[in-house]
Amino acid sequence: MPKKQIRIGLIGYSFMGRAHSNAFHQVNHFFPSKYELVPQAVCGRDAKKVKEFADRWGYASTETDWKKLIARDDIDLIDVATPNNLHHDQVIAAAQAGKMIWCEKPLARTGKEAEDMVKAVAKAKVPNMVWYNYRRCPAVTLAKQIIDSGKLGKIFHYRANFLQDWTISPELPQGGTGLWRLDAKVAGSGVTGDLLAHCIDTALWLNGDIADVTAMTETFIKERTHSETGKKQKVSIDDACSFMCRFKNGSLGLFESTRYARGHKALYTFEINGEHMSLKWDLHDLHRLQIFDHKDDGTERGWKSVHVSDGDHPYCGNWWVPGLQLGYEHSFTHAIVEFLACLDKRKKPTPSFKDGLATDYVVDAVLGSAKTRKWTKVKQVKR
Ligand SMILES: NC(=O)c1ccc[n+]([C@@H]2O[C@H](COP(=O)([O-])OP(=O)(O)OC[C@H]3O[C@@H](n4cnc5c(N)ncnc54)[C@H](O)[C@@H]3O)[C@@H](O)[C@H]2O)c1
Repeated sequence: MPKKQIRIGLIGYSFMGRAHSNAFHQVNHFFPSKYELVPQAVCGRDAKKVKEFADRWGYASTETDWKKLIARDDIDLIDVATPNNLHHDQVIAAAQAGKMIWCEKPLARTGKEAEDMVKAVAKAKVPNMVWYNYRRCPAVTLAKQIIDSGKLGKIFHYRANFLQDWTISPELPQGGTGLWRLDAKVAGSGVTGDLLAHCIDTALWLNGDIADVTAMTETFIKERTHSETGKKQKVSIDDACSFMCRFKNGSLGLFESTRYARGHKALYTFEINGEHMSLKWDLHDLHRLQIFDHKDDGTERGWKSVHVSDGDHPYCGNWWVPGLQLGYEHSFTHAIVEFLACLDKRKKPTPSFKDGLATDYVVDAVLGSAKTRKWTKVKQVKR
């Protein structure tokens, strides 16, 4: 039977553009379904560079203006892999053109922007997904399955960290490819919207909604040269953020993120402690899930490290043989696998733009609380 083609128009072709393009090919090869992902066109502002990218990754054509890409009638799905300030307008234009949409995280710079985007996809009735890819690491999906089985019992604590060290030098400029993360006008915020957004999305998925938060942020380096103007400009992002929260299920949360933890490159960890069981995960060791089960026999009770690679572990059966682990790139592949499965069953894919909005509301509350130094309620999303 001929496959149903989904012709993709990708906007942005750097870090995430590569991660997504790699996943398109992996999905077709490793997770055959009735769909075929077709890299139809890629858009970037530099015609020569975007052509080189298209040739390397198998895109049939290129554009240098994202509005032209979205207007094309040979594109079914727009994939937004651009800096955060562009998500809002690109998503709304894509929804108005009736395209399916994948958008990188955070969905938007603020909850307000994200609300517009949620309304636009609801009005257009187009399938949508935010790239909160860590949900789809097999060990994280396994954690979700164990938590949903109820084996943990009552949940008491959830804690997560996302630690990096790449902005410690005051010589590092702000603005431009990759470094737009240091420019609040483009990024929206610093580590809160960039790194903690991942931790928050996973937490909401695993442990449910957050009711209120109290936070502190710090900007260690107050001025940096801007790549685009060549001038020293005020730094408005949060370099570090810690927050405490109460989940609606009664458990307590503790989150920390910084780009000033010397020695840490991308240390994303989470731990959840229940009455009967605790689970721990670490991005540096992403194919393992640490499990402590209090029901184990007393003399043998202890933390066990499960190598998540067996045929009956999430997604693993479609890859190699048991014992051979998967990595970062595969989380993107699995995100698309889930999207296609929902499309097939006419279900709404997740994480949806509504899920992205929920995370943006937590980010808003965290940044608001850091300013006022008060406990702050999180706006809730009906899902
Ligand atoms: N899911 C994840 O784990 C993850 C990881 C990194 C980044 N991200 C998110 O992905 C998005 C992109 O981040 P990145 O690291 O790939 O950034 P990047 O700076 O590496 O790439 C951004 C791309 O957007 C292009 N671009 C900028 N303005 C454009 C315009 N007007 N028209 C067309 N293209 C334009 C740039 O040329 C570049 O190719 C951000 O929202 C970021 O938060 C997500």
